Amino acid sequence: MEKIIDENKQGEALILKAKKGNERKLFIESYGCQMNFSDSEIVASILTKEGFNTTNLLEEADLVLVNTCSIRDKAEQTIRKRLEKYNAVKKINPSMKVGVLGCMAERLKSKFLDEEKIVDLVVGPDAYKDLPNLIKEVDEGRDAVNVILSKDETYGDISPVRLGGYGVTAFVSITRGCDNMCTFCVVPFTRGRERSRDPQSILKEVNELHEKGYKEVTLLGQNVDSYLWYGGGLKKDFKNASDIQKATSVNFAQLLSMVAEEQPKMRLRFSTSNPQDMTEDVLHAMAKYPNICNYIHLPVQSGSSRILDLMNRQHTREEYMQLIDRIWEIIPDCAISQDIITGFPTETEEDHQDTMSLMDYVKYSFGFMFVYSERPGTLAARKIEDDIPMEVKKRRLTEIVDLQQKHSAYRTKEFLGKTVEVLIEKESKKSDQHWSGRTQQNTVAVFPKEHYKPGDFVLVKINDCTSATLIGEAEGISENN
Ligand code: 5AD
Ligand code: SF4
Repeated sequence: MEKIIDENKQGEALILKAKKGNERKLFIESYGCQMNFSDSEIVASILTKEGFNTTNLLEEADLVLVNTCSIRDKAEQTIRKRLEKYNAVKKINPSMKVGVLGCMAERLKSKFLDEEKIVDLVVGPDAYKDLPNLIKEVDEGRDAVNVILSKDETYGDISPVRLGGYGVTAFVSITRGCDNMCTFCVVPFTRGRERSRDPQSILKEVNELHEKGYKEVTLLGQNVDSYLWYGGGLKKDFKNASDIQKATSVNFAQLLSMVAEEQPKMRLRFSTSNPQDMTEDVLHAMAKYPNICNYIHLPVQSGSSRILDLMNRQHTREEYMQLIDRIWEIIPDCAISQDIITGFPTETEEDHQDTMSLMDYVKYSFGFMFVYSERPGTLAARKIEDDIPMEVKKRRLTEIVDLQQKHSAYRTKEFLGKTVEVLIEKESKKSDQHWSGRTQQNTVAVFPKEHYKPGDFVLVKINDCTSATLIGEAEGISENN
């Protein structure tokens, strides 16, 4: 659902078909982080109750919703391009309405309506429950906007409609917003202050997924390690909580343990972790429960303590390295991945070399690397000049991407000759004779299908690999099934 499966050229015929029934068709697509994909499932759930049916065909939609990302300028440009496409479709389907959700909606607010004529509806990340009212406004011919950020909305009471995916893995959101205020990041402005979801509603959602046959959940949040439930409310207000609330509060390590115990046959992942908030209790929980995957996405952003300070990351290069050491002491086979930004204002060649040497130290299994993009309203945009020329940013990016590829290949090769447990997710893209799944460490593995099926945990002997994919043969079903 989140991507257009078929750019249908016979739009008109499809519109006729759509208009025959009474139900309205919703086309929803998501850009950006996993949280947006997860939010779209909440939106689909809210609108299903309003009589909408989801469709994969843009041309037959009565309502098009695009869940947007503001993290970098390029992400916003992608959305603008997409709006052009909707504009073209609207020429053959004039009654189609278009709504913008997510971070760009929150950032631009009603300016969106002026800048993009195609847009009828602008809804920020905390206002999705208001969608039925807003759509009524639009139906009556008025544009509608709700971008109010909330201090307690977590959508904990909504059972998401699962879009896309293969029925094996799912996301479950546990926190919303972020209080970290990294100076480059627009997220605290678009998603508001940090709040956590009731653990009982998280357990309920995980149990429902288990009943539907799902085998893996990823607990999602901008900063999962900072999860703290004390009866609701903002994380920053915890200091004013009552003694009882404090005594019965649930932190991330406790939540992880609760979920791991509730569904011991389901794999459990989480993302994103930030070094300054990750506690050893989390690492001990990972070591204790075999169903918590040995994989941590631990963005570092830069290997230079000076740049980390300017980014307000609240840890030094050395503290990050100490955390890495502790992770491997407690969980020796833990895979670690990074996010890194090149060309943050004032970054020197020496700072860049510090990033490369940190990468050499960790040898990350995977990485997500970006050139710095100044975001309006952030502290960096207000206080520090974006002074690194684009060609320098890009050259540094190429250098770290090349280095990461070397490290990924090194990490992938470590699996050669080993037998690992793989959870089958889907058919391999390259061969209909092979399954594709992932190891605990999140490395993709492919192997001949034989009699196995998606959702099976299979023991796979790894005989070969490319830089990112393991190639093997099934040795049998894992006892985890
Ligand atoms: N420019 C470039 N990359 C950014 N990220 C966040 N903000 C920016 C920005 N202004 C990256 C960070 C973060 C990831 C989700 O996106 O690396 O961890
Ligand atoms: Fe942005 Fe930093 Fe929060 Fe991540 S931790 S969402 S980078 S402010």
